[in-house]
Amino acid sequence: MILVTGATGHLGKATIDFLLNTVSANQIAALVRDEAKAEELAAKGVELRRGDYNDIDSLEKAFAGVDTLLLVSSASLEDRVGQHINAINAAVRAGVKHLIYTSVVKASHETKFIPGADHIKTEEYLKQSGILYTIFRNTFYAEVLPTLWGNVLESGQWFYPADAAKANFAARKDMAEALANVLVSPEKHLNKTYEITGSKSYTFAEIAEQLSDVTGKTITYTDIPLDAFKEGLTKAGVPQQYVPIIVSISEAFKAGEMDATEEDLETLLGRKPTSLSTYLQETYAH
Ligand SMILES: NC(=O)c1ccc[n+]([C@@H]2O[C@H](COP(=O)([O-])OP(=O)(O)OC[C@H]3O[C@@H](n4cnc5c(N)ncnc54)[C@H](OP(=O)(O)O)[C@@H]3O)[C@@H](O)[C@H]2O)c1
Repeated sequence: MILVTGATGHLGKATIDFLLNTVSANQIAALVRDEAKAEELAAKGVELRRGDYNDIDSLEKAFAGVDTLLLVSSASLEDRVGQHINAINAAVRAGVKHLIYTSVVKASHETKFIPGADHIKTEEYLKQSGILYTIFRNTFYAEVLPTLWGNVLESGQWFYPADAAKANFAARKDMAEALANVLVSPEKHLNKTYEITGSKSYTFAEIAEQLSDVTGKTITYTDIPLDAFKEGLTKAGVPQQYVPIIVSISEAFKAGEMDATEEDLETLLGRKPTSLSTYLQETYAH
């Protein structure tokens, strides 16, 4: 039995859809907090199991009989490491054989990306737990880009503090497909850590150029100071607790933390990952 957590989220749901191409639905379970959000999954024959990362007993119950578990990192930033530790401990207690965890590219204690610290701590906990593991160090999703460029399609001006740094973005659906491939053959990926990236990193000016080509609108990228960016976030009414996190993303870009180009995703997919320009065309060409 395979269980996917975060199954009502983007990555978990897409992973289950890929799994359904090769595994019968009765071999797949989905961890959900709210069954009402998972009607589509249930209709496909996937077994819904209720559980919350904050409640270890609910997780242990939900993981019963599971051989291979995909632990999608929590979207909540409150005690995220504690939530992940709950999931790992529950997996050990329930006798799960292999756990796949979604981390962040080039995870390290030195990262400027605030949520990145949770990932490296979780990786370390997982490695000493004794359970067989595979770590997917996912780069930023291409789907994150619109949150970085805001209303650029109307204004044509992308103001963002990234200097001339390069960053690597990959399509979330490619990551889901690769995760499904590992979930069906975990024995080929024992205790491996993969850097999950697209085939090329780009500067933000190059990304703006690609977006211009796809949309037919002139879009220019302009670097701005971090302080001005921070002030802009506050003026725009972004809740104060999120400001340092959003700023840390920019600091990580500037430090080159997301400039990673590895072949792991291509190998796991058995084909080239979706290029950024293809992703932009699929998303914005119309
Ligand atoms: N690489 C990137 O660019 C990037 C960007 C954003 C996030 N991430 C990370 O990657 C993860 C997956 O991405 P995504 O796009 O699928 O995010 P998403 O759509 O926000 O999905 C997150 C999933 O986590 C579940 N979840 C949150 N808190 C939980 C808890 N306490 N107990 C059990 N489940 C919980 C959510 O359940 P509900 O549906 O019930 O809310 C949801 O199913 C995110 O959670 C985050 O850690 C990566």
